[in-house]
Amino acid sequence: MARAVHETARDVEVWQIELREPGDRDERRAALRLALARRLGGDPSEIRLISGPHGKPALADPVDGLHFSLSSSGRCCLIAVTTIGPIGVDVERVVPRKYLERIAARRFAPEEAAAIADRRGESALRAFYNCWTRKEAYLKATGTGLTAPLDGVVVSVDDERPAILALRDDDPGAWFLAAVAPARDLIGAVAVRLGDYRAGEPAVRLLTA
Ligand SMILES: CC(C)(COP(=O)(O)OP(=O)(O)OC[C@H]1O[C@@H](n2cnc3c(N)ncnc32)[C@H](O)[C@@H]1OP(=O)(O)O)[C@@H](O)C(=O)NCCC(=O)NCCS
Repeated sequence: MARAVHETARDVEVWQIELREPGDRDERRAALRLALARRLGGDPSEIRLISGPHGKPALADPVDGLHFSLSSSGRCCLIAVTTIGPIGVDVERVVPRKYLERIAARRFAPEEAAAIADRRGESALRAFYNCWTRKEAYLKATGTGLTAPLDGVVVSVDDERPAILALRDDDPGAWFLAAVAPARDLIGAVAVRLGDYRAGEPAVRLLTA
């Protein structure tokens, strides 16, 4: 069944939903259907979702040019929707980690691990989560998720100027990366492949459902 996307001036919508039960998959899926129905029109219960080869959700009745992604951490669920291009979102609660530097050295690219090792305390923790969520947002946009190596994408780690700096399989200039901060103790990121989009930097709107 072909359906038309309702045009909207908003370039990237990120819906923030408070789950009743942390990580509840049924609630997440219901929220995803609602967010998609807002864009497509119709009844949320009529939206049928399927999973790609590595678990990326997709519409069973594809709609040309509509892209979306979902992430949750605890009770916070983020759903990103856009017509620009493939999109990925990730959110993580910032919790102190004992072996921050060791994890970064083992899993991240050397320049990211070095940037994190240069920092101390809260600053190192935020850099770690910035790095993690930015990578995961990209890997969710491509649909590989964590089946692809984390060091195949190199990102900035500072709070300011989120960016994809290098990619093993693509041109980093083809991508837009933004930080999303739903709350003080949550760090989020959204990655979008720009493709032919030439309207300047996309606007990212955080909306509360
Ligand atoms: C995608 C992935 C990175 C999610 O990590 P996470 O931090 O635990 O979870 P998040 O809350 O951020 O995201 C979960 C959502 O990501 C989406 N998702 C799952 N796999 C995805 C993928 N490959 N690409 C994009 N999005 C994906 C789903 O919407 C999922 O929510 P749902 O279960 O309600 O549908 C991780 O699950 C992953 O790498 N999966 C691939 C693993 C795989 O291929 N396994 C197959 C082994 S046989």
